[in-house]
Amino acid sequence: MRPTGGDVVPAACRRAVDWLRLRWRRSLQLRVVATTMLLGLAVVAVVGALLLDRIQNGLVEERLNAARGEALSGRADAQSRLDTVSGTAGLNLVVNDLLPSLASTDPDRTRDVVLLRGLDNDRPAVVPNLSSRDLALSVIPLDLRRRVAATGRQEAQFVKVRRTGSERSVPGIAVGSRVSLPVAGDYELYFVFTLEREQETIALVRRTLVGGGVALVLLLGAISWVVTRQVVSPVRQAALVAQRLSSGRLHDRMIARGEDDLARLAASFNTMAQNLQRQIGQLENLSRVQQRFVSDVSHELRTPLTTIRMAADLIYEVRSGFDPPTARSAELLETQLDRFEALLDDLLEISRIDAGGELLELEPADLRDVAARVVEATVPLSAASGSVLELVPSSTPCVAEMDVRRVERVLRNLVVNALEHGNGLPIEIRTGAGHDAVAVSVRDHGVGLKPGESALVFNRFWRGDPSRARTLGGTGLGLAIATEDARLHGGWLQAWGEPGRGSCFRLTLPSRPGHELEASPLPLAPRTDEAELTVGGPYLRLPPRAPSSPLTRPEPGPMPPRPSRPVRSG
Ligand SMILES: Nc1ncnc2c1ncn2[C@@H]1O[C@H](COP(=O)(O)OP(=O)(O)OP(=O)(O)O)[C@@H](O)[C@H]1O
Ligand SMILES: [Mg+2]
Repeated sequence: MRPTGGDVVPAACRRAVDWLRLRWRRSLQLRVVATTMLLGLAVVAVVGALLLDRIQNGLVEERLNAARGEALSGRADAQSRLDTVSGTAGLNLVVNDLLPSLASTDPDRTRDVVLLRGLDNDRPAVVPNLSSRDLALSVIPLDLRRRVAATGRQEAQFVKVRRTGSERSVPGIAVGSRVSLPVAGDYELYFVFTLEREQETIALVRRTLVGGGVALVLLLGAISWVVTRQVVSPVRQAALVAQRLSSGRLHDRMIARGEDDLARLAASFNTMAQNLQRQIGQLENLSRVQQRFVSDVSHELRTPLTTIRMAADLIYEVRSGFDPPTARSAELLETQLDRFEALLDDLLEISRIDAGGELLELEPADLRDVAARVVEATVPLSAASGSVLELVPSSTPCVAEMDVRRVERVLRNLVVNALEHGNGLPIEIRTGAGHDAVAVSVRDHGVGLKPGESALVFNRFWRGDPSRARTLGGTGLGLAIATEDARLHGGWLQAWGEPGRGSCFRLTLPSRPGHELEASPLPLAPRTDEAELTVGGPYLRLPPRAPSSPLTRPEPGPMPPRPSRPVRSG
């Protein structure tokens, strides 16, 4: 289904939010800059609001005082002019003149005058309610009029100033007091001042404060960005150099400039890296010396061993002429010489691998053929151990580029191990092919592996039962060599095992050299619902026998003895 516009926008928003979250978590600089700007914004907003309030109050108060003063003198002037009048006609003339003269003449018309008949005046109305210019009479609120009538003193109040015929109103101040008109009685004289100029001034101050505040916050952000950059850059550089050091680039160092704290940090970091490099170098040298020693000793032992071998073979051949204890000694000598030779071969192989530069002789081969050859070669051993070797070949070709000699060695060791630890129960050798990988697994139903042992088995000289005499069994180098062989191929060698349920060892190789393995075509651990062979018990499951399998399960009987001569892994 094609995404609709509504789906695309939230997806883009989600991506942007995820990106921001990631940046926020990873960038110390971003966090410092954002926090500084937010705190700066809060401070600027509070200070700006306080400042604006003070300025506003000051301006209005000043205007109110000025208005009261102007109203006072205006009222005195009006009263004195009204006192001179006698008669109704003259009164109307003076009143008509009075209002325009008391109102301001400036074009902004900041002062207007209203004359209203007193609330308690019950004389005949000879003078109507009047206002200068077109000021609406309703501008004067009733409660102000009541206060003026009640106190008889000057009273002031904030009002909305409106002209007749206009809906627009502006804030203003009305200051009123009583005047006494001859014949007409008590009237109220109001001076109305508009606050438009003050309003404009306050708007200007507000704009200035907002603009200044935004500029200040941006400036704060820029400053914190520059400052944190100075601190964060060396830290980032240290992290990068540490990463490179851990990836093996031991010569990388930080740039240490100046004498400040950051320069000292860089210098200490470099000293640490130098010490580490020296120690790693020493360890490498030591390891090289040890490898060389093992290699030299193994080589040196070869010549005397060959001589001893020839002599021992001679004695072994004629042992029938010896008395029984001497004949037994000749047999023991022969067995232990086999083990000695095998150990020497393994040591030389390990030394060669450690020295590096091992080259693979790659050729395309089918893992099914390799497995069949190994199984065939192990027939004598399987007969001796009592285990049936079941070859379950893949129905599809398992062709990969491999060093056949090494893969055969790995597989032989796995099969021999399975025979040694399989308790005489069947052993399945499966092959499988995937998209980019081929695999072979060897599954036995013997002693199995204890928790944690599936990793330990690949260690050099590790053997499951340390109490087992060193004069028996293998040397514990077979799986270590097999791991190196798998690694040289860019493959995996993995183990699974549980006590009493047996083990499974799986070798996975990439079909093409250099291809990164992602999965194996064969399972390692058995499925939980898979029926198991119980140790020593009857078969619960038997895999289909491969037509090519040369082996049959031997008649049930007592467990035959282990082979006296160990089978080498290579
Ligand atoms: N199929 C298995 N079941 C149980 N334990 C195993 C199995 N395969 C290996 N192990 C354990 O892992 C150990 C190491 O195996 P490895 O093949 O490296 O050495 P080895 O067989 O003892 O000697 P060699 O060097 O002759 O192969 C074995 O001694 C054994 O304890
Ligand atoms: Mg082995």
